[in-house]
Order: sequence, then C-alpha cells, then structure tokens
Amino acid sequence: MTIHIGAKPGQIAETVLMPGDPLRAKWAAEQFLEDVICVNQVRGMLGFTGTWRGHRVTIHGSGMGMASASIYANELIRDYGAKTLIRVGSAGAMQHSLGIRDIVLAQGCTTLTMPSRGIFRELNFAPCADFGLLHAAYQAAQARDVRTHVGNVYSSDVFYDERPDLNEIMQRHGVLCVEMEAAELYAVAARHNVRALAVLTISDHLLTQEALPASEREHSFGAMIELALESAFA
Ligand code: ADE
Repeated sequence: MTIHIGAKPGQIAETVLMPGDPLRAKWAAEQFLEDVICVNQVRGMLGFTGTWRGHRVTIHGSGMGMASASIYANELIRDYGAKTLIRVGSAGAMQHSLGIRDIVLAQGCTTLTMPSRGIFRELNFAPCADFGLLHAAYQAAQARDVRTHVGNVYSSDVFYDERPDLNEIMQRHGVLCVEMEAAELYAVAARHNVRALAVLTISDHLLTQEALPASEREHSFGAMIELALESAFA
C-alpha cells in the first residue's frame, strides 16, 4: 500500500491507463478487461486490474489536474513498477482545424507551471511523449479512420481560465488543445525512465463553443480506450 493507493504488491500491471474520472476507470475496466479486480478505492479513486487479449492492464483514475495526476503517477511507477502510462482524457480545441470528437496525440506539452517546476526551477523542460507509444497510437488511429492530430497541447492548471491573451499566443504557435494532466505525467515518466502518452478526445471547442453531446461521451471514451490498449501492446 502507498499513501493514496491501496493495492497489494503485484496487483498493479506494468501497463496503466489513466482516465481522469474514477467512474470512467470502472466503466472501462468492465467493458474492456477480463478477470477484473478492484485494486484501489482510497479517497474514492478507483483502480482496476484485469487482462486485455491476454495482457495484464490496470485502469486507474488520475483525478483532475497535474497535482493529482502527479501523485498517482509517482506511486504507480515508484511503488508498483508501472512501466507504461497512458492518459485517456478529454481536451478543449484551440484551433479551427480541430473538430469535436477528433483525437489528439500529445507529442509535447506547453505549461505555465507544473508540479515538477520545483525540481526544474530555471530550466524550461520540454515534456514529450514516448515516441514508440506515439507512433503506435498514430498507426492504430489511422487504421480506425478517426481524424487524428499529433502535436503540442497546453497542460493548464486552471479550467476556468482568465488569460485569453495567453490562449491567443498559443493558438498562433500551433498549440492544438487544452487539457490538465499530460505535462506532469510526461515529466514524472521521464524522471523514472518509463513510457507515457496522452490520448485525448476533443470534447469542447474554445473558438466555436461547440461541445460533445453527453449522449456521445461514452462512445468516444470507449474508442479512446481501445486505441490506448492497441498502442500499449503494439
Ligand atoms: N478538458 C476538456 N476540455 C477542457 C478545457 N476546455 N480546458 C481544460 N481542460 C479540458
């Protein structure tokens, strides 16, 4: 057990999918894994381990924001030996070239700040995805015929942002979308020499104010889980 994860030694798989919402972790484990056991319930953060096509997989919530994701990523890697961590989540589009339901593979992350900032201090570390995972996810997405974008994402610390001027600068520099966890996940993974990727579905559009209808969220989320699983074991 760790401070935030109640799993026994050996109950966490080397491959971990991380949705933000713990109830999404439960839903995904029930839909896609076999022989599922619940391995964590501490503070209501749910984690499940099972098998997918014979491979052991854990699906564990990250919570919202980099502070929360950092806690779980650190403990999953350092205490349970996770080697591949894939965030599966939603993002808000920042470019007209992106549409609702599109997939974004976060190649790199832009930040104002992140929990690891305390370690990097004056260094502008560039959090980036594991290339093997990114490549596998891109190929899996192409095979599924979903509109897929690969590039820079903004990992924000605030959902209710009060700095539209910054969004404009990021838009001019090609940042694709905003989300809240990837940069720190990539930094923690880099520090421990393990693989990480964020697979994101566009759920809302900052420029057009469109949003994914609630009725479609489950379907989009399921497609993203399948993509992440295919990428992890490609
Ligand atoms: N995740 C999904 N949409 C988002 C947004 N607009 N800002 C931050 N995170 C998000």
